[in-house]
Amino acid sequence: MSTLVVVGVQWGDEGKGKVVDLLARQADIIVRFQGGSNAGHTLVVGGKKTIVRLIPSGVLHAGKVCVIGNGMVIDPATLVEEIDALQQQGCLADLDLLKISETAHLIMPYHKAIDLAREKRRGEAKIGTTGRGIGPCYEDKMARVGIRFVDLLDETLFEAKLARNVEEKNTYLRTMLDEPELDFRTIFDTYCQLRERLRACIGNTSRYLHDAIRSGKKVLFEGAQGTQLDVDHGTYPYVTSSNTVSGAVCAGAGIAPQHIHSVIGISKAYATRVGGGPFPTELFGAEGNQLRQAGGEFGTVTGRPRRCGWLDTVVVRTAARLNGVESLALTKIDVLSGLDTLRVCTGYRYQGQDYDEVPASAHMLEHLAPVYEELPGWTEPLTDIRSLDALPTNARRYVERIESLLDIPIKMISVGAGREETILIRPSFF
Ligand code: IMP
Repeated sequence: MSTLVVVGVQWGDEGKGKVVDLLARQADIIVRFQGGSNAGHTLVVGGKKTIVRLIPSGVLHAGKVCVIGNGMVIDPATLVEEIDALQQQGCLADLDLLKISETAHLIMPYHKAIDLAREKRRGEAKIGTTGRGIGPCYEDKMARVGIRFVDLLDETLFEAKLARNVEEKNTYLRTMLDEPELDFRTIFDTYCQLRERLRACIGNTSRYLHDAIRSGKKVLFEGAQGTQLDVDHGTYPYVTSSNTVSGAVCAGAGIAPQHIHSVIGISKAYATRVGGGPFPTELFGAEGNQLRQAGGEFGTVTGRPRRCGWLDTVVVRTAARLNGVESLALTKIDVLSGLDTLRVCTGYRYQGQDYDEVPASAHMLEHLAPVYEELPGWTEPLTDIRSLDALPTNARRYVERIESLLDIPIKMISVGAGREETILIRPSFF
């Protein structure tokens, strides 16, 4: 097995960054294939915290190649800032190790302005986007007016495309959104400067990955966000604007389906969601607050408090099917220490009917009743535990019950943010 896909099976923030950082030890190349700087992957190594938004979470390991795939949308200013910050801490010294797809789309200042202005106008009905311009950039990609890295490399072409887009977006910003116009020359000059910082990294990453996989290199694909935020399969319209499922690797990295060899799903031991949209097992008041404080559940990118709730196996089961998940990593189980009783959602009931997968209707999702099973809690802290046998009996039962409800083996349990704060149950992943 030479490739492995890591996907979130909830609403994002499952701890994929930590898992990818850990798995990257066994990989040669780590690839992001969708999303942009709406993601914020937190890595804690030797007590030091690093947050990456665009560069794959394998970057802390020396000598690994990091690839930004064509399915991503890139704010080049954020990317340059991220490179600078990583280089200051001694990572990515050799920029040859960073490869950026020439066909990835660029997030432009007008994308951010439109994203923020639309959210402001939506009021109560807002999606709660990260405000990074993700949706408007993917819209332009689909409308075939987006600007890609390959366009940026050709200054004359870039100037023409940018001029046309700025004119159109300024009309939209002024007349539809009542926002100030943006200055073409400022954007042009800034992006030309950023291009020179990134030029050496830009190329055909699809071909590079094809050759690498064929030559037996181990490639790790790092998903961002989670399955319930997938634009097709998530809780639409409260979703991000990309496909987050494992199938998106093919289009978003430019590799063939037979090159996807295995898929691991990442799930928290409870559930969180940031932004608007249905969340059947959400906990309000003191209970929600307790999980939020214990788990430090505040957005990595925006700092927003995350909504917290019980583990929902309906959500995970649906995601497992959509992604072809063969094993799971269960994260943040240490956060549950000290709760008398735990609840796990095993199904949904709506108007007398039972559901074992997430229904498509947002209205139904907002009004259905989760069916819960109760399990006894434990009081012991788990952060220093490194083996399944050493877990308190009730914590082990909780893990076993999740495995049996989902019929998927759990290969790894995370008991803290640090790289080493992990129980590796089945240590081979590729
Ligand atoms: P956007 O991706 O910024 O357009 O935001 C759309 C929705 O996805 C909002 O509810 C965001 O909070 C959510 N979202 C986007 N990226 C992430 C992430 O990395 N983790 C969790 N939620 C996210």
